[in-house]
Order: sequence, then structure tokens, then C-alpha cells
Amino acid sequence: MQNFVCHIPTRIFFGKNQIEVLGQEVKKYGSRVLLVYGGGSIKRHGIYDAVTRVLKENGVEFWELAGVEPNPRISTVRRGIQIAREHNIDFILPVGGGSTIDCAKVIAAGFFYNGDPWDLVVRKAKIEKVLPIGAVLTLAATGSEMNSVAVITNKETNEKLGIGHPDMVPKFSILDPTYTFTVPAYQTAAGVADIMSHIFEAYFNHEKGAFVQARLAEALLKTCIKYGPIALERPDDYEARANLMWASSLALNGLLQFGTGPNKWSVHPMQHELGAYYDITHGVGLAILTPHWMRHILDDDNLYKFVQYGVNVWGIDPGKAPHEIAGEAIDRTAEFFKALGIPATLREIGIGEDKLEEMARAAVEHGGGSVGTFKPLSYEDVLSIYKAAL
Ligand code: NZQ
Ligand code: ZN
Repeated sequence: MQNFVCHIPTRIFFGKNQIEVLGQEVKKYGSRVLLVYGGGSIKRHGIYDAVTRVLKENGVEFWELAGVEPNPRISTVRRGIQIAREHNIDFILPVGGGSTIDCAKVIAAGFFYNGDPWDLVVRKAKIEKVLPIGAVLTLAATGSEMNSVAVITNKETNEKLGIGHPDMVPKFSILDPTYTFTVPAYQTAAGVADIMSHIFEAYFNHEKGAFVQARLAEALLKTCIKYGPIALERPDDYEARANLMWASSLALNGLLQFGTGPNKWSVHPMQHELGAYYDITHGVGLAILTPHWMRHILDDDNLYKFVQYGVNVWGIDPGKAPHEIAGEAIDRTAEFFKALGIPATLREIGIGEDKLEEMARAAVEHGGGSVGTFKPLSYEDVLSIYKAAL
């Protein structure tokens, strides 16, 4: 296991009615709040009322940025910064899924930067200072509630890029699983696929001494496999929603990646290009690409990892031939996503052949010459995975 520093500073308030702590938590950091939310689901399902009630009861003043879109746009970040400056905001409170939280993170960083916030995303300028953030999560998927990363889309340049800074990590996050009862089936399934993909990105590494991280990853994968279908069948099953919500945070708060060495991701960079060119649901793109990525990279050197995955996660008979186990594990992965109701091909979500080459080139360029480190992918590799997924 390699050296690492573990520091996960987000205070998590998990469970029913945890919204009641919101006022006391916000007041630790500020008194003039920018409430950030998406297209209105929080208003339809009573979460907006609960949040604003607690803020008012605690005498916290707030202003609003509504309409953060899935795959949040830099234009919305700009709008948020403007509102925040106009009202001397000192705390940012996103209420929603990963898109809302990500948008809030870049508003918080852009608040102190005099130029265009896109400069921060493309690393033309450095993040120097960030307003404090606290999140109320309504969708189990991205892990943004407990990490320092944000992913922002620029429609003018066809780019969807991730940016991270230690000060962008939420000071606290409120995780009430009942808030996710209303997440539609498609988004629930996409969320499960996203959580699993974060786990795969960490799990498929070559650090053989990181036993504990690998077993934790397998436990989280099994959690998704057990509870994903239950949440779809019974959207208000508390146990299923609670387990998925906590798995979302644990999959991408660093826990699985510490000590596994420098490990650049593989499937996310390919999916981010799909998201940049076509406005698709993040987890759906990941679910379509993942089995094809697995089939494409499987070789004699990494076979052992697929065998571990097949035996420990899917319970495949370890007495079978290694190649058979690996093949079966990949097939089971694809079947699982299909059973969740996720489309299996790019064509089904409106992606044809025309931009595949452009997207493959962009993925490799954004990766600095290749994609991923588990088995580095060239332009030809990425293109061939895209084509297989058509
Ligand atoms: O906008 P509203 O009306 O709120 O509706 C949302 C949206 O349409 C709806 N929704 C959320 N909570 C709901 C609900 N509907 C009913 N009841 C609820 N309780 O769900 C839709 C999708 O929301 P969104 O926030 O876009 O989903 P998700 O959490 O999957 O976030 C996806 C974004 O996060 C980025 C993705 O690239 C994508 O842009 N990611 C962020 C990461 C990070 N910060 O660490 C890592 C991830 O790999 C990912 O890239
Ligand atoms: Zn993701």
C-alpha cells in the first residue's frame, strides 16, 4: 500500500429529519446565504419548504439561484456569482443532486476571482479562495456531497470538465434518505450506475497491497447490486435509499483511492465527452460504456483483477477457468445495468456515428495524450470502445 494522507472534512448529518440542524450549521459560517437549486423538484416534493422554514426559524437571510440544469452550465455559474456579489453572500447552500452541488462549488470559487469563472475550470487561473458551502443532497449518485470536485459544461466550446480544490469540499452535508424517495426510476438507475462507476475507477488499479481498499470497494458494489433493484421496485424503501445514499458518498470521498497510487480514471473521461457534445444523463453514459471498456482492456496481465471482481462481487465459482470468470463478470455487469432499465447502446440515447472521432480525440487530448492508467487508452482504443457501444 502506498503512502497517503486522509482528510475528509465534511460533517455528515445522516438520516430522517436531519434538516433541523441546517440553521445551526449554516450560522457557524455565515448569515447571508445563496440557496442554489435545480429545475424545481425540491419545490414539488416539500424539500424547499423544509429548508426555507429552518433558515427563517434561525434568522438566516437567503437569496436564490434556481434552474441549475443537469450537466450544469458555466453560464449558470456566472449568474450565481452575480447574485452572490450583489447581495454580499457569505455562504452557499446547494439543495439537490450533483449538478446543483457542483454549480454551487464553482460559484463559491468564482466569487473571489475577478475574471471569467471558466478560467478556473480550464486551469487558466488558480483558485485562491472559496466561500464556504454546505449541501442538502436529494439524489444518490455523484459523491459531490463529500468531495472537492465539480464538473461543469461549456456549451460554447463543447467541453465538460472537472475541477477540484480542497476548499470546495462541503463543510457539512445533510443526507436524508427520505428526500430521495421521489427520484424517478431513470435517475435512480443512473445514480446506481454512477456510484458503481466511481467504485470501478478506484477498484481497477494495480496496487496489489491495497487489500482493504479492494474489499471495501467490493462491499460497496454489492450494496449497489442489492439495493438498486429494490429502490426501483419500491421507491420509498428507506433501507434501500439509505444504503444507496451512503454508498454514493463513500464511493467518491477518497476512501477507496487512498494508497492505491496515482490512478487516472478511464470511463469517466470518455463519458464526459459524450456529455459535452450531447446533453445526456451522466450515469447512463457510464453504464453503456463500462462493459465495452471492460471487454476492450481485458488481457492476461489484468485478468487477475477481473477474476477477483467476478468471484468476490458476483459470486462466480472460483473453480472456473479465469477467462471464463472474467467474461461472465463483464456479462453480469451489462445485464445488471439492463435490468435497471438503462439503455444499452449509444444510439438509444441519440448518439450516432458522426462525432465519435471528434469525441475520441478530445478525450485523449483532455487526458494529456491517453485516457486512464489502469490500461492507458489511445485515440484508437477510445474510438473502438465508442464504436462497440453504438
Ligand atoms: O433539477 P431538478 O428539478 O432538481 O431535478 C433533478 C434533475 O432533473 C432530479 N432530481 C434530483 N433530486 C430529485 C430529483 N427529482 C425528484 N426527486 C428528487 N429528490 O434529477 C435530475 C438529475 O439531477 P442531477 O443533479 O443532474 O444528477 P446527478 O446527481 O446524477 O448529477 C450529475 C452531474 O454530476 C456530475 C455529472 O457529470 C453531472 O454533471 N458529476 C459530479 C461529480 C463530482 N462532483 O464529484 C463526479 C461524477 O462522476 C459526475 O461527473
Ligand atoms: Zn460519475
